[in-house]
Amino acid sequence: MKMKKLLFLAMAAASLCALPLMASCSGGAETDTPAEPAADGSYTLVEDGKLTVAASLDFPPFENLNNGTVEGFEVDLMNAIAEKMGLECNYLPTMKFDTIIPAIVAGGTADVGVSGFTITPQREEEVDFSTPICDTNQCIVVLNGSDITDESMMAGKRIGAETGTTGLDWAKENLTDDQEIVAFDEYPAVFAALQSGQVAAVVLDKPVADYYIKVAYSDCQVVKEIPTGEQYGIAISKDNPNLTAAIDDAIAQLEADGTIDELNQKWFGTNA
Ligand code: ARG
Repeated sequence: MKMKKLLFLAMAAASLCALPLMASCSGGAETDTPAEPAADGSYTLVEDGKLTVAASLDFPPFENLNNGTVEGFEVDLMNAIAEKMGLECNYLPTMKFDTIIPAIVAGGTADVGVSGFTITPQREEEVDFSTPICDTNQCIVVLNGSDITDESMMAGKRIGAETGTTGLDWAKENLTDDQEIVAFDEYPAVFAALQSGQVAAVVLDKPVADYYIKVAYSDCQVVKEIPTGEQYGIAISKDNPNLTAAIDDAIAQLEADGTIDELNQKWFGTNA
């Protein structure tokens, strides 16, 4: 009995000691945020001197593979962010969208996940996000000539979306009748299913739908924009808060020096 009580007291004392120690650690980190966050040890990188990016390269005009070249708004943005941080930007080979956040949480593969990630409360439980870099909505796409004009006409139909996306979540939450929701690993497969009649409508981010329809799927059309009011952010491990701070600092600089306006102009023809 006495032993047990002593042990308890010792543990209580130990946890009391631990508390102020932890508090001073985080307090310290806040006060010495570096003004010019170069590779000075204030954050960790999977490869020295490089900002390693995990992405699903099926999301033009944000990130896409064009004849073997990685390109898009977010690709240009990540290159500009890396440059401000004194780092080289390194895109890994394309990954399945729903494997990227788990890879960032596990660590060791990439420093950031950048794939038009909508900042959601569920994802914020797993990773930290940069300040928002883009505003978007979802939309419904059908084949030209389809009689579907909005969600009320989708009853009994098969609906497609990409695995792990907010478009898939929207379909599951809002199409509660007797629709069958089918998930695909990448957007070309989503559009192929629409073209072949495997699904009657698909749900995805509006700027991406507009782009795909313009460059590749002219037999499809957006029939309804869904005002989900989403914002994209860069996903970063919760173990690396100084990397998030450094990326936010770089984004603020790129906003101030007009680079972000230039990129919006280049990829969307607008300064919005
Ligand atoms: N914004 C949506 C989401 O966060 C879709 C993103 C899909 N991105 C991609 N690269 N396939 O769920």
